[in-house]
Amino acid sequence: MRKGIILSGGLGTRLYPCTKVTSKQLLPVYDKPLVYYPLSTLMMAGIRDILIITSPADRAPFENLIGDGSQWGLNISYETQLQPRGIAECFRIAEKWIGKDDVTLILGDNIFYGNELINRFNAANWNNVGCTLFAYHVADPERFGVIELDHNDEPLRILEKPKIAPSNYAVTGLYFYNNKVVEYAWRINPSARGELEITDINNLYMQDHDCKIEYLNRGIAWIDTGTFESLSEASVFVGSVQRRTGMMIACPEEIAYKNAWITEHEIRRAAEKYSKSDYGKYLGQILDRKSTRLNSSHVSESRMPSSA
Ligand code: TTP
Repeated sequence: MRKGIILSGGLGTRLYPCTKVTSKQLLPVYDKPLVYYPLSTLMMAGIRDILIITSPADRAPFENLIGDGSQWGLNISYETQLQPRGIAECFRIAEKWIGKDDVTLILGDNIFYGNELINRFNAANWNNVGCTLFAYHVADPERFGVIELDHNDEPLRILEKPKIAPSNYAVTGLYFYNNKVVEYAWRINPSARGELEITDINNLYMQDHDCKIEYLNRGIAWIDTGTFESLSEASVFVGSVQRRTGMMIACPEEIAYKNAWITEHEIRRAAEKYSKSDYGKYLGQILDRKSTRLNSSHVSESRMPSSA
């Protein structure tokens, strides 16, 4: 079985003073909290057992917002990270919870959007390697973990925030691992900046030739919302796509309903709870759209010749 972790510890110092008393992941991106986006990404990958790791101070607000996940057909647990000692520490914290399962990690401030995503997730599930990373072509690779490729375009290793980047391919904050990741997390040591680096784990997989890179093409948007600029860009992006299409990005109720993890009853209940907001109105429309579809298919069936 594959479980999912949303890593939402961290101090969010680049967003001070906004993140002095609240988590970055609880700030709004257009019309919903940031954490809804990575949560929806895991749900789209078919993952229902999810661990949210927060700082000690942020745990209660996260639990108040999301609860045990049963309203979305999920099974959500919580753990805390005492200090932001690096992304890779999450596998030490989650060791017991992971047990013998495989695990997908998503950083709590990463937003993915695009039609192709589900195919990429399926590819990651069927890749038959220990680790699948998702790479994205960026203009400013020096800010990220960057993939060095050999002359056959095979990945050689990842360099963390290099001064001179060997390629424009950044490693995004979404990682599919087998269970070996827990052993690797205990094998690595803190880096010069005192953090357990996810890049060190990824390089262990690469050394074992047990790592596959999925390249996310330009039809997919990836936004890492660590700064005010990227956070407001994300809000503008989500707002424009939603207004244009009339469809919501990262609505957990809708994904759960489409996956048949919840019924109309849960959607209706959430629609009533949020009836004063556009979010609640949208939930109502999901059911209206469904009944329109059913009615129109009824009409077309009734128009079929009786011999059909
Ligand atoms: P960062 O953006 O690197 O760190 P941060 O969120 O603390 O922000 P800042 O740099 O402004 O202080 O973290 C990326 C994501 O990973 C973010 O969702 C928080 C999470 N994270 C942890 O939960 N624990 C950690 O130890 C680290 C390094 C990051």
